[in-house]
Parts: sequence; structure tokens; C-alpha cells
Amino acid sequence: MIGSLLLLWVCVVSILLLLKSWRPKNFPPGPIILPILGNILELSLENPLKDFERLRKIHGNVYSLYIGSKPAVVINGYKAMKEALMSNEFAGRPQDLFVNDTTQRKGVILADYGTSWKEHRRFALMTLRNFGLGKDSMEERIHGEIQYVIKTLEKSIGSTLSPQVMFHNASSNIICQVLFGTRYEYDDMFIKTIVQCFTENAKIANGPWAMLYDSFPLIRNLPLPFMKAFKNVETCQKIAKRLLAEHKSTRVPGEPRDFVDCYFDEMDKRGEDSESSFSEGQLSMYALDLHFAGTDTTSNTLLTGFLYLMGHPHIQERCQQEIDTVLEGKEKATFNDRNNMPYMQAVIHEVQRVANTVPLSVPHCTTKDTELMGYSIPRGTLIIPNLTSLLNEEGQWKFPNEFNPENFLNDQGEFVKPEAFMPFSTGPRMCLGEGLARMELFLIMVTLLRKFKFTWPEEAGEPDYTPVYGVTLTPKPYRMKIEARATE
Ligand code: HEM
Ligand SMILES: *[C@@H]1O[C@H](CO)[C@@H](O)[C@H](O)[C@H]1NC(C)=O
Ligand SMILES: *[C@@H]1O[C@H](CO)[C@@H](O)[C@H](O)[C@H]1NC(C)=O
Ligand SMILES: *[C@@H]1O[C@H](CO)[C@@H](O)[C@H](O)[C@H]1NC(C)=O
Repeated sequence: MIGSLLLLWVCVVSILLLLKSWRPKNFPPGPIILPILGNILELSLENPLKDFERLRKIHGNVYSLYIGSKPAVVINGYKAMKEALMSNEFAGRPQDLFVNDTTQRKGVILADYGTSWKEHRRFALMTLRNFGLGKDSMEERIHGEIQYVIKTLEKSIGSTLSPQVMFHNASSNIICQVLFGTRYEYDDMFIKTIVQCFTENAKIANGPWAMLYDSFPLIRNLPLPFMKAFKNVETCQKIAKRLLAEHKSTRVPGEPRDFVDCYFDEMDKRGEDSESSFSEGQLSMYALDLHFAGTDTTSNTLLTGFLYLMGHPHIQERCQQEIDTVLEGKEKATFNDRNNMPYMQAVIHEVQRVANTVPLSVPHCTTKDTELMGYSIPRGTLIIPNLTSLLNEEGQWKFPNEFNPENFLNDQGEFVKPEAFMPFSTGPRMCLGEGLARMELFLIMVTLLRKFKFTWPEEAGEPDYTPVYGVTLTPKPYRMKIEARATE
């Protein structure tokens, strides 16, 4: 009896040791790994957040998890985040078969670290910074769209309105203006279809079917839910191709109207260079990527902003005082006015801090065998940057747990940006739409606050700031009461 118990004990211990040894040498610590399942049993499907919090408490700021048989490293806290994200060795994207097969390695968001990604990224940064589209033209496009928002709000003066569709329309149209030079009304088949396809694919890519696709070659051709993802990509590509063909037939080389024209000019410049990563196939995916990346992020941040400004009327009033003083007599705000509006700047940044729009950033992947905080991480490891962990990190903020613009103001009332502010991530993979997004947030919030007063409808009870979870966070749907402000 004792003999067999001892034997059993030896077996259990050796199995545990065996499993432990599955982690590569000096890999970040984490829970015990089960064969095939990895650590997925550690995570409850209803509320994985609590489990993540627990794992961080046990294992520290850098810990590892096995998603099935795939190792992942979760990064928390400013110090580790900065060390990882600033390095090229962490600037890859996981190239699972599913992602590879659906994106056909095109576009930029999910493209791996390499020449094509680098060239396309540089091109977008140049073009979006007005060098390609003409000075000030980005601001004009944004102001053009704001006029439609104002019209919508004016219709609701004295009553209430749900702003979700309005801000979604606006963000989507601004990107379309930049990319294609036209507003696409939201009920146009074009934009509706694209939005639907991308939303569906983001869900599929993050779900179990993508994992099964990666793991079992035999099922890849069966009519399972992941097939929908390929159909969606095809549909989007078709629409994009039609748009590109239209552009090609009306463009004047050297006089770009928009991003797509700039790209064609760049293709002309590169000529027949067979090494060039620029192609029409790339462009159609690229345009879709930019539209997807720039729509929900911006509109969810705006929704959070107006929610908090209604919940904190004294902060809204102080913004309005500053806006009235700085813009006195001017017809429109310009992006440069932000330099004279430290309070407004602080409010927008504080909104982004609490909005936590992209909580886990976009997954990264190591491009080489590398090190982080003394741990060794092999090439090809999935990296999950927990941007949420910076937002209320002790020691980084004056008021980590409340909505307070003082987090971004010094004793002289000047605007300052703490280093832990990274809603756009940081390093070589940092959001390439940051410039555009910041311009949109500033011009839209300033223009609307100047014209209207926003109040929380009394009959709606207390504002609920708890966000709805997803790839991007969004506030629960709400309504706002609109009043016109007396203008000078
Ligand atoms: C408030 C609005 C926005 C937020 C909070 C935001 C946030 C982010 C974050 C966290 C990432 C991941 C960075 C990383 O992997 O480390 C990202 C990537 C990206 N964003 Fe944004 N974004 C916003 C608006 C935009 C806009 C307007 C555009 C379009 C012009 C855009 C285009 C992109 C692209 C293309 C990437 C992928 C970059 C790459 O992989 O090299 N974003 N964004
Ligand atoms: C990804 O797809 C490309 C072509 O679409 C292929 O050449 C490459 O081998 C694939 N990579 C992986 C890791 O399967
Ligand atoms: C959004 O755009 C669609 C299409 O133009 C329009 O019908 C709808 O009224 C817009 N909604 C708002 C709130 O702006
Ligand atoms: C990210 O950080 C937040 C705040 O520290 C925590 O609640 C959450 O569980 C973390 N998520 C992961 C995946 O570690």
C-alpha cells in the first residue's frame, strides 16, 4: 500500500516536473502548463480579467501563459512596457496561419516586421502629416465633417440624442475623406459592408475557430465558420478594387487628391522596380486597414469624452471658458490653438487615459531570441502588452483612480505629459494614426464645446462609466441633452 502510494507520488512529481520543464530556460514564470490545453483552464470565460489580475499578483509584471501549445508573454507596468515596445526585437506581429491566409501578408496592422511593413508605414506617416496631401488640408477635411455633426446636434437642441452613430459616422467619414477624397454616407453599401466584414473578422480571428484552423490542417477546407472570414476578405477586396479603378481613371499624376492618389504617385515613382513592395493589391488591403484602425478607436474615445464631460459639468465649463477666451472672434479652431489651451489639452489626454480604448494594444511578436527584464524570450513568442496596466499605475499619476485633468497639468497650470501616457502604444509599432487622431479629438471637442452645452439627462439616473469589453472599449450607450450656447 505504502509502496504504491509512494510510486504514485513519484509519478505525479515527475509529471509535474516534466510539465514545468516545457517552459524554455529562463522564460518568464507562469501557471503550470497542461498538455494540449496549456493554461486556458486558468481563465474563466466570463471574467478573465480577474484571473489575469491574480496571475500578475503571483508571477509579477512579466509572466507567461500557454494558449493551447502556444507560449505568450503578458507585459504589465511602465518599466517593462517601455523596455519591450521600444525594441525592434519586439516589433513583429504573430503570423499564425489564419492571419497569414486571410490577410495574404498585405496591409500594415497585422504585417510582420520587415521591408514591406517598414516602407508602407513610412509612406503613411509622410502622407498623413500633410506632406502628401497639402498643408492644412487634413484640418479642412475634419472641419468639413464637423459641419455635419453640428447639423445633427442642432436638430436636437432642447432635447436628447444618442451620439453613438453620429460619432461613428464622423470618424468613418473623416478617414474616407483622407483615403478616397469623398465622404461615404454611412448607409452606403460600401462602408456598411466593410465595417461588417472587419468586425466579423476581428471576432473570428480572436476566437476558437482561428485556433483550430491553425492547429488542424485537415479541417482547413471544411465549411466551418472560418470560411466566412475568407469570404469577407474577398468581398472587401472587391469593393476596394472598384474604388481604386475609379480613382485610377480620374487621377492626374503629381496632383494627388487623397491618400490613394499619393500611393499611385509613389508607384509611378518606383516604376518597374520588381523589388518594390508597393502594389495595387497592397493598396486595397492598406486602405481597408486604415479605415478599420481609425474608426472605432476615435469614435469610442469621443463617446468617453462627452460622457465624462457631462458627468463633470465644472470641467466642461472650464474648457468652455478657455475656448471662448482663446478663440475670441475667430471663426474656427485650428490645431495650433492647442498650444494656447493647456486645460483643454489636459482634458483630452485625461479622457484618453480613462477611455483605455485599446486595452491590450495589438498583439506583438518577438523577431529574434531576446531578453526582457532579465528573462529570455525566444523568437516567435506572442507578446501581449497590457496598456491598461499603465493607466492607473501607482507612482505614475497624481490622481490614478479618478477623472482629473490635473494629471496633465503642472503647478503653473501648464500642460505636461507623463511618460506612462501611452494609449497609442510606443516604439516602432506605435499607432501611425496618432497625429490624425489627436487632430480629430481636438478639433471636434473644441468646436462642439464652443457651440453647445452637454448635460446628462436627469431621468437617466447616474452616469455609468463602466466600459463594455471588446478589442476596443466603448462606454455603455447613453443619451445627451443638447443646449445651444450663446456665441459672441
Ligand atoms: C484615439 C484613437 C486611436 C487609438 C487610441 C489608437 C491606438 C492604437 C494602438 C494601441 C495601436 C497598436 C500599437 C502597437 O501595436 O504597439 C494602434 C495601431 C495602429 N493604428 Fe491606431 N489608434 C487610434 C487611431 C488611429 C487612426 C485614426 C488611424 C488611421 C489613420 C490609426 C491607424 C493605426 C494603424 C495603421 C496601426 C498599426 C501600426 C503598425 O502595425 O505598424 N489609428 N493604434
Ligand atoms: C504565409 O503566406 C504566404 C503566401 O500567402 C506563404 O508564402 C508563407 O509561407 C505563409 N507563411 C506561413 C508561416 O505559413
Ligand atoms: C449617419 O449616416 C447616415 C448615412 O448618411 C445617415 O442616414 C444617418 O442619419 C447618420 N446618423 C447620424 C446620427 O449622423
Ligand atoms: C492588465 O492590467 C489591469 C490593471 O492592472 C488588470 O486589471 C488586468 O487584469 C491586466 N490584464 C492582463 C491580461 O494581464
